[in-house]
Amino acid sequence: MTGADAVVLRESPLESARFGLRVFRCDVSTIDAAAIADAIERERADVLILRVPAREIGAVRALAASGFAAIVADTLVYYDIELLAGAPERDASVTLRPAAIAEGAQLAHMAREVFAGYVSHYHANPLFERARILDGYAEWAARHLEQGSASGAWFVEREGAAVGFSCYRIDAVSGVATGVLNGILPAARERGAYRAMLRAMLGEFAGMGLRRFDISTQVHNIAVQRTWASLGLRLRHASNTVHINALRGNAANRR
Ligand SMILES: CC(C)(COP(=O)(O)OP(=O)(O)OC[C@H]1O[C@@H](n2cnc3c(N)ncnc32)[C@H](O)[C@@H]1OP(=O)(O)O)[C@@H](O)C(=O)NCCC(=O)NCCS
Repeated sequence: MTGADAVVLRESPLESARFGLRVFRCDVSTIDAAAIADAIERERADVLILRVPAREIGAVRALAASGFAAIVADTLVYYDIELLAGAPERDASVTLRPAAIAEGAQLAHMAREVFAGYVSHYHANPLFERARILDGYAEWAARHLEQGSASGAWFVEREGAAVGFSCYRIDAVSGVATGVLNGILPAARERGAYRAMLRAMLGEFAGMGLRRFDISTQVHNIAVQRTWASLGLRLRHASNTVHINALRGNAANRR
């Protein structure tokens, strides 16, 4: 570790618009509470969503000394697998159909159904209106169809019917595919569709000549981690999402 990072807040326009707050994001490897406080004042941030390695948990309380109530909102775990050695054997029980650009609404609709009961870091923060959290997943899924070859989505089909979806991102320079947002419809769960979907995804990415696949989730998502581990993915990293409700923008006057 080489000292504290520069604290650069990135505005998150979609989250700001969705929640009616000035929402910013920032990834750091250590917590420099004074620098974070300065950045919050400079940007007049209402909420800062900070990602920090989980081992830094002892430093979160330094934010309180700067006058901020920090919420440790979730723990993310990151897994990956090398693809060059070959993907696991395909499971023909599902197929992946690429979603067309015109199918954004269907993808958004499916994301709503799949993530309706899903708990994420947004739920830990009372400033984020519950009803709008699901809008975020729907919008996020559909946006994967708008960024050319850098991202995309599949519908997961079983016996001709869509049972789930899978959005991904590709970094062609580093040869890495990232699983971003995916899941299986409630009525089709617990029958191996997710496992078959992941196998098919690994086969697709290996076939594209990519060298690695990575994916992350909340630590409480046991079902997917069981699947990842059994298909050879390995745990690489854990980080915490920390929310700082600073209310330095106009939102302070509205609430
Ligand atoms: C998590 C999810 C993808 C699982 O889909 P699924 O098709 O039911 O999963 P599968 O039937 O292929 O089972 C995969 C593994 O998860 C386990 N599993 C499935 N549902 C589970 C549950 N509710 N609790 C615990 N384990 C579960 C299965 O037992 C299996 O593990 P095993 O082979 O070691 O027994 C699905 O419930 C879902 O879409 N959830 C909401 C969205 C989500 O979590 N998306 C992933 C974000 S990274």
